[in-house]
Amino acid sequence: MAETLYLPATTDRALLYESLVPQIAALTEGENDLIANLANISAALREAFSFFWVGFYLKKDQQLVLGPFQGPIACTRIQFDKGVCGACYTRKETIIVPDVEQFPGHIACSSASKSEIVLPVFAPDGSVAMVLDVDSDQLDDFSAVDAQGLGAVVKLVEGLL
Ligand code: SME
Repeated sequence: MAETLYLPATTDRALLYESLVPQIAALTEGENDLIANLANISAALREAFSFFWVGFYLKKDQQLVLGPFQGPIACTRIQFDKGVCGACYTRKETIIVPDVEQFPGHIACSSASKSEIVLPVFAPDGSVAMVLDVDSDQLDDFSAVDAQGLGAVVKLVEGLL
């Protein structure tokens, strides 16, 4: 397993995702512990992009429960009808929020969080097993490039389920 990330010296996110995704595949290959893999994936995303907060909320007992993450402490439980994470779970689609203050029901774990992207991670039976949540302290920080790049990371996670 590669334990050091090698990233191009660029802020171009498309190039960073292109470099990072195969390294995440290598990082998780041969490790069958889901929590260990989600922890390393969170760390790899934070290291590559310096995201304010990045992590997973896992579906457990009809709620989303905080899983491995990197960043400031966060709320531990989210109802399916609450927040961007709950909306992502319910709609089963990626949600980009350019300004969290404009999203009805947004859960502010930190007042520093300004924009957000949340992606569903599907179990083999088609249900949503967890969501990948990334927060930025900049407004309008996420685009289709992130939806695609993080979508590739989500595909790797789905391969672990
Ligand atoms: N803002 C999220 C809650 C999770 S934190 O951002 C880490 C939401 O509205 O669902």
